[in-house]
Amino acid sequence: MKKILIVDDEKETLTSFARHFESMGWEVDLAEEGAEGIAILSKKEFDVILTDIKMPGATGTDVLRASKKLYPDTEVIMMTGYKDIDKAIESLNSGAYAYLNKPFRLEEVNHKVVQACEKRRLIQKEKEHHANLERLVKEKAKELYHHGRMISLSEMAAGVAHELNQPLNGISTFAEGMLIRIERGIKIDKEKTKSILKEILIQTERMSEIINHMRTFASDFERLPQQNITAEQIVQGCLKLVGTQLKHHQIDVSVKMDPPGLSFLVNEYRLQQVLLNLIHNARDALDEKAEIVKRENLYPNNNWKKQIEIKAFLRENGDKGFHVIEVRDNGTGIAEDKMDNLFQPFFTTKEPGKGTGLGLSTSYGIINEYSGRIEVESEYGKGAVFRVLLPAGE
Ligand SMILES: Nc1ncnc2c1ncn2[C@@H]1O[C@H](COP(=O)(O)OP(=O)(O)OP(=O)(O)O)[C@@H](O)[C@H]1O
Ligand SMILES: [Mg+2]
Repeated sequence: MKKILIVDDEKETLTSFARHFESMGWEVDLAEEGAEGIAILSKKEFDVILTDIKMPGATGTDVLRASKKLYPDTEVIMMTGYKDIDKAIESLNSGAYAYLNKPFRLEEVNHKVVQACEKRRLIQKEKEHHANLERLVKEKAKELYHHGRMISLSEMAAGVAHELNQPLNGISTFAEGMLIRIERGIKIDKEKTKSILKEILIQTERMSEIINHMRTFASDFERLPQQNITAEQIVQGCLKLVGTQLKHHQIDVSVKMDPPGLSFLVNEYRLQQVLLNLIHNARDALDEKAEIVKRENLYPNNNWKKQIEIKAFLRENGDKGFHVIEVRDNGTGIAEDKMDNLFQPFFTTKEPGKGTGLGLSTSYGIINEYSGRIEVESEYGKGAVFRVLLPAGE
């Protein structure tokens, strides 16, 4: 049921309007004074308020003000005599929907009230729609974030498999050597046995370190605490996971920390996730470039080599500096018209199954949460550089 409040110190106006709107099916509240109107307003919300401007005590403008404060969407129509036309116009500036001049034609009053009520309905619908959209965007963003994390986990699983392979091979070679000696009755030297067993222990330790790392990464790292971690620790942590893989891809990796010991107040694994994304992208750009180099015989003297340079440095910026980690590659580079899209979710130039286009958007989200940013520069055909900038601590 639509609700209307009518405020007027003229009894006849009140009763005739009340009769009319009740007959139209409205719920009607009446007040003979501004203050009474304001008191009713504090307990009840209306679709439309019809108020006289000039009343003893609290005026129509006071009613308008009180209503706008409590219910910004409720439309208020001012009723006025010719003498108060200035006040009426002023009330429009304070948010009144319209004003009506005395003497009133019921038809006109009815028309204005219905219009005002419709406006309110539309505004509320729009607000609801907006709120729904906002909720949807928030939900989607959350989904994307988790999706991105799953993807980097699967990327990481591939890296871990690579990393585990090497110590496993080592262990099985040592064990096989021992077995052959025993089977062939070759005398086993005590010292030699000791060093082989030691080597096996070292390799198993390395494996369990990698597995532990993976476990921490895979756990709910959103809840992991932030800690002060150095660029060296972050970069070495990444290389432990993908170093062997990069070697398999014949990629030269150089690391330069200048000055050494730059620290970041972050969750180690989240920053590592960002860096791994950048390293994986560099790896893919280098592999792609290698194919082009081969196909088009770009460097007949073989003087192009896949390279990734990782650097950490300080960027001064007034009082507030940034600690920066940079990943530079000499791969395909990025075409100018693609630069604007890099951080959009699902933007990828990779073939289906190879890239989902979530790496950079997820990374952007993480760095943004730490009040930092990611910069990109690229010369198409020559390579790309991605920089992660985080505010330097106090
Ligand atoms: N180092 C780089 N060199 C050249 N292009 C790059 C580089 N890094 C990113 N890009 C471009 O940006 C696109 C988006 O990267 P992003 O990491 O978001 O997604 P992706 O690598 O395609 O897929 P995903 O990371 O989800 O597996 C890539 O497809 C690629 O075109
Ligand atoms: Mg990627």
